[in-house]
Amino acid sequence: MSCAAMQEQNPIVEARSVLASARRILVLTGAGISAESGVPTFRGEGGYWRNKSYQELASPVTFKRDPRLVWDWYLMRRQTVNDCRPNAAHVALAKWTEIARWTRDVQLVTQNVDGLHESAGHPDVIRLHGSLWRNQCTRCGKEREEKSLNYGQLPVSPCCGALERPAIVWFGEAMPTKPMAMAYLTCLACDAVLVVGTSGIVMPAAEFVINAKKRGAIIIDVNPDDDAVPAHIKLRGQAATLVPAILA
Ligand code: APR
Repeated sequence: MSCAAMQEQNPIVEARSVLASARRILVLTGAGISAESGVPTFRGEGGYWRNKSYQELASPVTFKRDPRLVWDWYLMRRQTVNDCRPNAAHVALAKWTEIARWTRDVQLVTQNVDGLHESAGHPDVIRLHGSLWRNQCTRCGKEREEKSLNYGQLPVSPCCGALERPAIVWFGEAMPTKPMAMAYLTCLACDAVLVVGTSGIVMPAAEFVINAKKRGAIIIDVNPDDDAVPAHIKLRGQAATLVPAILA
């Protein structure tokens, strides 16, 4: 069936039908799935802090020059996310995945670092960009879970006694090998991709969708706005409403 034909019919009905018949499903999420939990997205008005863009702050160059500034931004984000709870989209996705995995391959790959998928009980989340709730040793690279919301002194690693950085993948840095490999293999094998809450412009996540489509996977996109996701089925609306509706 052509993209236009799929879109013409009720997109929710079409999306349900695709997800019901797919054997291998890649789910890709972005900041938009957490928007209704109160977590700012990047390219909306939440993308600036102290008049600096996300790109300037999430940068090894800025961290080397002013680690306090970068840590203050991440601590502000921890404080913001600390008051947020998973919304109906996170919860529906976690519950659906738990059941669907008895009979099919379903793998969540997220660009988010807020930890809300994990808080919703989602099994086995592949995090492409790291976690707000982990620190990394700048000397040996070892990571540890960390929930502090404030640092009087900048954090020092217990392993090496070196300055710690947020365990986040910054612009210009290499992607984490294992999550990338797992996400890539999933994108090669999937026959459907459910994309929720991403502008679809940041690589490599955007490329997973393009590659999956090239191989014949059906792409479903949930976003209130038009985005760069090359979807067959476009569900224009809020994740917390539409995700439970298509997974019901
Ligand atoms: N439901 C679904 N989608 C939503 C909602 C909502 N309630 N609210 C906003 N959105 C959509 C926006 O329309 C936008 O297309 O979520 C998308 C968020 O896009 P971005 O802010 O660009 O975030 P994301 O796509 O996750 O960015 C990818 O870029 O800045 C880097 O590392 C950062 O992981 C991030 C990556």
